[in-house]
Amino acid sequence: MEVDVDDESLEMPELDAQQLDFPPPGRRNPRKQSGKKSLSKSKMKKLLKQELEKERKSNVFHSFSAFYEEQYGSARWSSLMACLLSKPRVACLVNKYCNESSVPPSTNSTRVPFLKLPVYESSALFPHPERDTHNVFDYYLMDAASVLVTEALDLEVGDKVLDLCAAPGGKTLGILQQLDLLQGALVANEPSPTRSKRLSKVISEYVPANLRTSIRVTRRNGIKWMEHDLYDKVLVDAPCSSERHLLHDPKELGTWTPRRTENCAKRQLALLFAALRAAKLYGRIVYSTCSLSQLENDSVISKALEKGKLDFEIIQKQWPVGERTEHGWIILPDVSQGWGPIYIAVLKKLSTKPELFEECVEDLEELQDTDGEPLLLLPGPES
Ligand SMILES: C[S@@+](CC[C@H](N)C(=O)[O-])C[C@H]1O[C@@H](n2cnc3c(N)ncnc32)[C@H](O)[C@@H]1O
Repeated sequence: MEVDVDDESLEMPELDAQQLDFPPPGRRNPRKQSGKKSLSKSKMKKLLKQELEKERKSNVFHSFSAFYEEQYGSARWSSLMACLLSKPRVACLVNKYCNESSVPPSTNSTRVPFLKLPVYESSALFPHPERDTHNVFDYYLMDAASVLVTEALDLEVGDKVLDLCAAPGGKTLGILQQLDLLQGALVANEPSPTRSKRLSKVISEYVPANLRTSIRVTRRNGIKWMEHDLYDKVLVDAPCSSERHLLHDPKELGTWTPRRTENCAKRQLALLFAALRAAKLYGRIVYSTCSLSQLENDSVISKALEKGKLDFEIIQKQWPVGERTEHGWIILPDVSQGWGPIYIAVLKKLSTKPELFEECVEDLEELQDTDGEPLLLLPGPES
């Protein structure tokens, strides 16, 4: 049985810095490396190629590290990196839609104290979730900091919610735990067809069919979300550099350049504009990422503020775990008992001028176009 987890990073193995296999930059001699006196020309060529590739990756890793060291300082970055290399911490979100809940699922589990929702942590591994008589799973494994993102939406009875970047669906489930689906409604959007499938699967495994009629899964490019002034709450859990994931994927890490975070920031700003446009007057927008890069966090909010035309205010709140930033809040694993990384900023929309939001989006160049997917309705009881 497949156990869905909130974000793919939770599926990572533990590593230590040596396993990264990135020695300090500097050319090595393949003849010396092999320990043999004479090598054939082709073998020599192959070894040299391998050495060059190793050296290239090593250089990339060192510039990646230097980039974050500049932002966090060397002491903080080294403790942060050690935490990012360790296995992510997992909590268990109890599913209120399950009618046979055996939760807490292990005798060792204790409630995560900083959350309102019933979320448990345990020193032991959680067993696989179980299905009830309606085929609905009893709990979902995710980072407790991700649950906090959904609590930041401050959901109320009857809220109409848009989850703009929703797959694989951990935060969608967090939202669904706080919504009354008889009165409220949720639109969960994910443009990638495979990830959208996974999102639909997660929802259908955790919400009974008769309640799914209030949920829509869409496959649109969030940047081009055209509805405006419609939603009480909008979550933008934006695609980001996801450095924890990168550190566990040497191939991906080998492609890192500072451009990566700059490009992410552009797309994030466009998604934030779309979310601001979609929200109702005085509606709440929660912007979140799992990035460590300031460019993708506070700077995105600063840029939206700089635009001037966009009328919103920042709601600054003291959260029980993590650290304040200029415009929001960041939960980093080295000082937040292993939870995170998660950045959260909470905004309130103060004017309704959709044409201004469009102008702002048009200002951004080269935005990736993933539009064109039709609406996908989740199977309800009638199908
Ligand atoms: C950080 S993940 C979301 C995680 C999800 N909220 C959860 O808790 O399980 C970001 C998602 O945004 C999607 N995405 C990428 N570009 C997008 C766009 N232009 N509009 C909307 N979503 C996009 C990615 O495919 C990815 O699934």
